[in-house]
Amino acid sequence: TVDQDVPPSAEVGVIGGSGLYELLDDVTEVRVDTPYGEPSDTVFVGEAAGRRVAFLPRHGRGHRLPPHRINYRANLWALHTLGVRQVVAPCAVGGLRPEYGPGTLLVPDQFVDRTSGRPQTFYDGLPLPDGTVPEVVHVSMADPYCPAGRKAALEAAREAAWEPVDGGTLVVIEGPRFSTRAESRWFTSNGWSVVGMTGHPEAVLARELGLCYASLALVTDLDAGVESGAGVTHGEVLKEFARNVDRLRTVLFKAVERLPLVRECPCPHALDGLTTGLPGVPGV
Ligand code: ADE
Repeated sequence: TVDQDVPPSAEVGVIGGSGLYELLDDVTEVRVDTPYGEPSDTVFVGEAAGRRVAFLPRHGRGHRLPPHRINYRANLWALHTLGVRQVVAPCAVGGLRPEYGPGTLLVPDQFVDRTSGRPQTFYDGLPLPDGTVPEVVHVSMADPYCPAGRKAALEAAREAAWEPVDGGTLVVIEGPRFSTRAESRWFTSNGWSVVGMTGHPEAVLARELGLCYASLALVTDLDAGVESGAGVTHGEVLKEFARNVDRLRTVLFKAVERLPLVRECPCPHALDGLTTGLPGVPGV
């Protein structure tokens, strides 16, 4: 681990599973402190597709952290501190329809939050360690994902001959347990597409920092309520993720390459008129 006075900067952030950061060339490892505590791990900063990219292993090295223990605020804050403004976030999910079997890649356009008690805002009215108190802010979440990031991800998948599902609802459960069959059937009957454990509050916190955020949901299993889904084990999830990690890395690389250099999406304006900014976050 390298502790640096002046950390290297990055424009694009990738929050994802281990095995994906081999995406980067010329890597420096940076430890970033935040007012919210420690991120999941040190951040790997390097170059990919001609962009400066910061990679953060969501669960920490060796997959130490279960989804409900991840310090999502520290993770997003750390990436923002490094200069990141566009985030691409792969995650493992269960399919909620028979046609979304293992190996399906879905780029969601909506999520539903079924987590409980995860800190999901930087604007919680409590003083930060430096004594400043953030304002009360209600950010819009009608369209939670960056349209430009989604487009880049979809085009990247197609270019890699991995036909993605364009849109769908990711229901995020608290975990770490998987869903019962009844829960799973209920998710399906609500029209939701895939189920995961990490998509919330990541997307919300990105929005609160004015970041672009797009998710690439890799289906590793059919969830318990789907007719042919026998119930899922963590072992299966890891195995299916590992089976797809090479092509997922390729898609990520191509997605990073396709992200616009100038942001013309609504994301940077998420806080316009709502706040003058968070302490220590210039340009939000
Ligand atoms: N991640 C991967 N598969 C999952 C499932 N079936 N439910 C919740 N999260 C998952």
